[in-house]
Amino acid sequence: MQDIQAIVDSIYDSMVPRLGEGKVADYIPELAKVDPNQFGIAITTVDGTTYTAGNALTPFSIQSISKVFMLTLALGKAGETVWNRVGREPSGSSFNSIVQLEHEHGIPRNPFVNAGAIVVTDIVLSGHQPREAIGELLRFVRYLADDDTISIDDTVAKSEQATGFRNFALANFMRSFGNLHHPVEYTLGVYFHQCALSMTCAQLSRAGLFLANRGRNPLTGHTVVSDRRARRINALMLTCGHYDGSGDFAYHVGLPGKSGVGGGIMAVAPGKASIAVWSPGLNKVGNSALGSQALEMLATKTGWSVFGA
Ligand code: DON
Repeated sequence: MQDIQAIVDSIYDSMVPRLGEGKVADYIPELAKVDPNQFGIAITTVDGTTYTAGNALTPFSIQSISKVFMLTLALGKAGETVWNRVGREPSGSSFNSIVQLEHEHGIPRNPFVNAGAIVVTDIVLSGHQPREAIGELLRFVRYLADDDTISIDDTVAKSEQATGFRNFALANFMRSFGNLHHPVEYTLGVYFHQCALSMTCAQLSRAGLFLANRGRNPLTGHTVVSDRRARRINALMLTCGHYDGSGDFAYHVGLPGKSGVGGGIMAVAPGKASIAVWSPGLNKVGNSALGSQALEMLATKTGWSVFGA
């Protein structure tokens, strides 16, 4: 039996001297205000126990990690037809790249690059007003984490709305190809709010637990998705969850994972645990610098890599 708390504590101790490494995202002005000298880690094992260290109870902006939850909702709503509008291949480009979209006729490479996530949000929006779609996502995440205190930070959403020129370009471009079915302001309104979900590492590690446990949340006993769907979402996280850093993350960590520019990473050790790390400073490809290092240490210490111990 591994002593998970001892592992989490030793990872935290190794990170303390390095606090502040990386560069905080500043293209969303509200995110630039976050103190970079923070690091949190939470692991929830499939028996439902949560182990924490550092700033694991400090809420942060989950940003692109929300794309996993929105994809889960979209697959529930539209099933495999989601894949008519978005691909399943790694992009090899940055999260907000526009170049591939023209060659590929407005069909984004995967659901985790911004363009793909915007299409996924457009799917969930169908038949709803934007505020209803935002409410649906918030209820879903609260249900997954079994925690009704989770909220959306409106200031962050507004900050991105005011400066999200790149996302407006991507959305307008896809609309011109007919791959966005709602007005750009509606879809992006929902997208900016989903990215502004504010969660702690502890909450996030619980929200991801269904992916570590064959689609069933052991905290509530609810089946969230089928075994097969959980496996497939994990496959997408492994291959596409870190954009053009996905290969490197698989090489060093070997776990399905999804990063966000708020500095969070959610990772899944199938059959074992769901993990959340957070430290605001980002590396060159926009993923948490210390968060990636911490997960590599975790994989080494636990032998949880999906490629073998
Ligand atoms: O759309 C954006 O640019 C942000 N709301 C989310 C990007 C993000 O988190 C990329 N992840 N590393």
